[in-house]
Amino acid sequence: MDVVVRRGDVTTRQAGALAIGVFEVARRPEGAAGTVDRATRGAISARLAARDFHGRFLETAVLYPAGLRARRLILVGLGKRAAFTEHHARLAAAQAARRAREIGAGTLATAVHGVGLGGLDPERAAQLVAEGSMLGHYRHTAYRGERPAPLRRVELVEGDAALARRMAPAAERGARWADAACLARDLANTPGQDLVPERLAARAAEIARRSGARVKSLGVGQLERLGMGALLAVGRGSVHPPRLIVLERGPARGSRTVVVVGKGITFDTGGISLKPRENMHKMKYDMSGAAAVLGLFAALPTLDPRLRVVGIIPTAENMPGGRALKPGDVVRAADGTTIEVTNTDAEGRLVLADALVYARRFKPAAVVDLATLTGAVSIALGHLAAGLFSDDDALASSLVEAGEHAGERLWRLPLWDDYASELSSDTADLVNSAGREGGAILGAMFLKRFARGMRWAHLDIASTAWSPVERPHEPRGATGYGVRLLLEWLSRRAASGA
Ligand code: BES
Ligand code: MN
Ligand code: ZN
Repeated sequence: MDVVVRRGDVTTRQAGALAIGVFEVARRPEGAAGTVDRATRGAISARLAARDFHGRFLETAVLYPAGLRARRLILVGLGKRAAFTEHHARLAAAQAARRAREIGAGTLATAVHGVGLGGLDPERAAQLVAEGSMLGHYRHTAYRGERPAPLRRVELVEGDAALARRMAPAAERGARWADAACLARDLANTPGQDLVPERLAARAAEIARRSGARVKSLGVGQLERLGMGALLAVGRGSVHPPRLIVLERGPARGSRTVVVVGKGITFDTGGISLKPRENMHKMKYDMSGAAAVLGLFAALPTLDPRLRVVGIIPTAENMPGGRALKPGDVVRAADGTTIEVTNTDAEGRLVLADALVYARRFKPAAVVDLATLTGAVSIALGHLAAGLFSDDDALASSLVEAGEHAGERLWRLPLWDDYASELSSDTADLVNSAGREGGAILGAMFLKRFARGMRWAHLDIASTAWSPVERPHEPRGATGYGVRLLLEWLSRRAASGA
């Protein structure tokens, strides 16, 4: 699907459907809705008067009025004007695109919601509407046919020529960011059978090539030479060997480096500490951190080329094979730390330990890891925020702020050293799993040991990487969480010269 900006009038634009936002309580619609109301001899005000449609947030109605060149009119409620925010514009656009797809509109022309009455900056609004349209339109269709067919094009219609020209690059950026998030969704929705570590490495190579990044994928021999006993141990129960994928983009020197690490467990059975059967099928999304890193790389060309970004993906399949790691085994991570594996299902922290040690060689200004690390983070936060852990207040608040702007929320949880004693082992330097209480924090505390000496933040995305419910901008399943958050965070860093 393409997203473009067109200078023109919403009433004369030819399209399968025209989407117009309507604020609540407007007896007489204003803005774009007012223009359309006049052209259609009061089609919208008649609806409002009949109380068939109120403009409540995300409410929709499909009309077939005379007076427009578009075949249908989709009204989408924008809610109360006083409550309207950037995220409302994104969600309203998503809702309209979703509705247009459902009715098989083919092409959609849309007003840029939030400009004018909504009080948003026009370029920002164009980015949000482009982004929302793409996110709302997304379906994972690789494993089935789909009818009606997806939309071919979404046009953002703006009457003012100068404004339309300014909106074009912003809309382009919104579309590319959302497209990158959809790439991450596709990866995480792919069944484990079709996305084993080797295949993930192949996809990473493809994405790197298209976005002008360098990439390598370290196999078992190289991992052995690097002493990555933790990553190797997790991969041992599978016939598909583990790998460490490394992507790099930007100037090789003279620039501060950001490292982004993503957990890439292509399927998590739990290993010998086998997971219960209910919901195990969802563990194909245990590589959502890796998917976020790859989505980020796909859209890096939209950011300042002086940014130097390194992506590290430790990838393995956690299986209970005959050679599998067993509870009680002791493994040695790349920095020499020994780990008593008390639970083979706490595998994410093992593979991330070696990846964080590897990150040190880049002398990064900041390291952010994204991982579907614990079920406990969902118990703490539900599905509306990911857990954020960092000892660095400035780094933490810059991430929280980027998350607000991206509509991908983060909530900070503690990392007090008092928790560390719970990870002590009688046999090794530490255990990989302790009790159930404070599970998300203990996972983060484990990682903290391996992030020593670096400005580091950990995002536990187990709560947000998979949506159990349908939302305007995301169907059930993989959400692509983190891609737009990272893009927003990096573009703000670049702008502030950090
Ligand atoms: N991949 C899981 C975490 C997870 C659970 C993600 C449910 C999404 C939904 C992770 O590898 C895991 O199994 N964590 C354990 C840790 C425990 C053994 C300390 C967990 O959360 O139970
Ligand atoms: Mn696990
Ligand atoms: Zn896992």
